[in-house]
Amino acid sequence: MKIKLINDIKSDLTVEFLTKESLKDYRYKKTLKKAGFSASQDTTCFLHKKEILVCGVDDASNDNIRSATSVAIKSIKSSNNKSASFSVDTKNIQAVIEGIVLGGYEFTKYKSKPKKSSLKTVYLVCEDVKEIQSAFEEAIIIADATNFTRDIVNTIPDDLNPPSFAKLAKNLAKENNLECNILDEKQLKKEKMGAMLAVGRASVHESKLIHLAYKPKNPKKVITLVGKGLTYDSGGLSLKPATSMVTMKMDKAGGCAVLGMIKAVSELKLDVEVHAFVGAVENMIGGDAYKPDDVLTSKDGTTIEVRNTDAEGRLVLADVLTYAQQEVKADYMFDFATLTGACMVALGSYTTGIMGNSKRLKHDFLKAGRTSGELVATLPFNKHLKKLLKSEIADISNVASKPYGGAITAGMFLDNFIKEENKDKWLHFDIAGSAYTESPWDCNVYGGTGAGVRFMSNFLKNIKL
Ligand code: BES
Ligand code: ZN
Ligand code: ZN
Repeated sequence: MKIKLINDIKSDLTVEFLTKESLKDYRYKKTLKKAGFSASQDTTCFLHKKEILVCGVDDASNDNIRSATSVAIKSIKSSNNKSASFSVDTKNIQAVIEGIVLGGYEFTKYKSKPKKSSLKTVYLVCEDVKEIQSAFEEAIIIADATNFTRDIVNTIPDDLNPPSFAKLAKNLAKENNLECNILDEKQLKKEKMGAMLAVGRASVHESKLIHLAYKPKNPKKVITLVGKGLTYDSGGLSLKPATSMVTMKMDKAGGCAVLGMIKAVSELKLDVEVHAFVGAVENMIGGDAYKPDDVLTSKDGTTIEVRNTDAEGRLVLADVLTYAQQEVKADYMFDFATLTGACMVALGSYTTGIMGNSKRLKHDFLKAGRTSGELVATLPFNKHLKKLLKSEIADISNVASKPYGGAITAGMFLDNFIKEENKDKWLHFDIAGSAYTESPWDCNVYGGTGAGVRFMSNFLKNIKL
C-alpha cells in the first residue's frame, strides 16, 4: 500500500471525520441518521452511493483523529476499494499517517494464506504540498520504524534468538550505514559480564551484545540507548506459570525498540550521535541454569545475590549499562525494558513508566509523550524502597524483600549501576505493559506496539544544543 501526498485527486473513496456538532449540518445527515450513525468516537459508516466513509470523532484532537483513522483504515482494507483519500493539514498530518501506517499494520509472517487487501493507494489531500512535505516524510519514517520494531517483537523465539537478533542488527547497520559491533560469549567473558552471562547459560543459543552507532559529522549531542533483549523469558528455574509464559517472546521489546529508534534517527538524518546497545539473551532452564542462591559478579564488580531467576532483565541490563558507560561518554543514556509486571499493576497496560534521578529530563519526556501520542507517566524513587534491595550475603539482591513498588525497586536496582557522573543523564523506561497488546487500542493492533519509538524520535528531533 502506497501513501501519496497530493493536491487534488479523485479516489474510489473519500474519508470524512464528523463530530456530533458537525453532523448536525452535514449534507447527508438524514441518510446517516437512518443508518444509526451518531458520530461517536471510533464509529464508521459507509455511504456507498456517495463513495464516502464517515468516521466519528469526539473532537479534532490528534489523539482522536489517530484513533478514528485506525478504525477507518481497517474497514477500508477489508472493503473492495483500491484507493481512498483523507484530507490533511499541518496540524493533523502526523496523526493521520500514524492511523494509516500503525493502525493498518498486519503481521502475516506465519499465515500460510494471508488475506490480500484491494487497497493499493491512500491519498493525503492538502492545499499546499510543499508546506507539509517534510512533516509528511518525517511521520512516515517514524511510523515505519515503529512497524519495524513491531515485526521483530512479533517474530517467534525460534526465528529470533540472540544470534539471529545480532544478524538482523548487522543487516540494519548495512542498510542504514551504521557502525556495528557484536560481542559473543568469549568477549563477554573477557569483559567480565558475569551477570549477563549467567542469565543466558542454560540456553542453546549463545548470548550476544549488540552495539550499533549512528555518527553524523558534527553531532549536537551524544545519546546512548540500551535495550533489554530477552528473546525468550521462561523465568528460568523460578519458572513462570504456564499462562504467564505465553507472550514472553515480547521480552525483547526494549532491544527491538532501540533498533527502531536508531533506524528512525538515521533516516531522519538528525544531527545527534546515537549508540544502541542490546543485551540479547534467552532465559531458559537446564542442568547448567543459573539458580536462586547463586551470587554473580557483574562487570563493575558488584556482587548480586540471585533470589529469583525471573528477575533476569535487570541482571542483563546491569552489565550492558556498565559496558555502555565504559564505551561511550554520552550526554544522555536511556534504557528500555519490559522489566516488571509491577509496572502494569501501577500504571495499567497502556502506559510506559519513566524512572530516574533527573526531574528536568523526566519532565521533557512527559512532554515528548504528549506530542507523540504515546502514554507515559513517572514513578518516583525513594530511599525506603531502595533499602529493600539489601542482601545479607552479597552487595545487592536481584529482588526486593517486599512485593510492593516492584517497578520502582527494579529501576533502583539499575540505578545502582549508573556511575555518579551519569546519574542525572540517565532514565529508565519500563515498557512491560505498553510494548505488547492482545487487544487493539488506539493505533495498536494485536502484538508488539513499538512502544518508545515515537516518543524517543520526537525527543531526539527536538533536542536542544
Ligand atoms: N519479563 C518479565 C516482566 C514482564 C511481565 C514483562 C509481564 C511483560 C509482561 C520480567 O523478567 C519478570 O519476570 N519480572 C518479574 C520480577 C519479579 C520476579 C521480581 C515480575 O514482574 O514478576
Ligand atoms: Zn523474568
Ligand atoms: Zn523478563
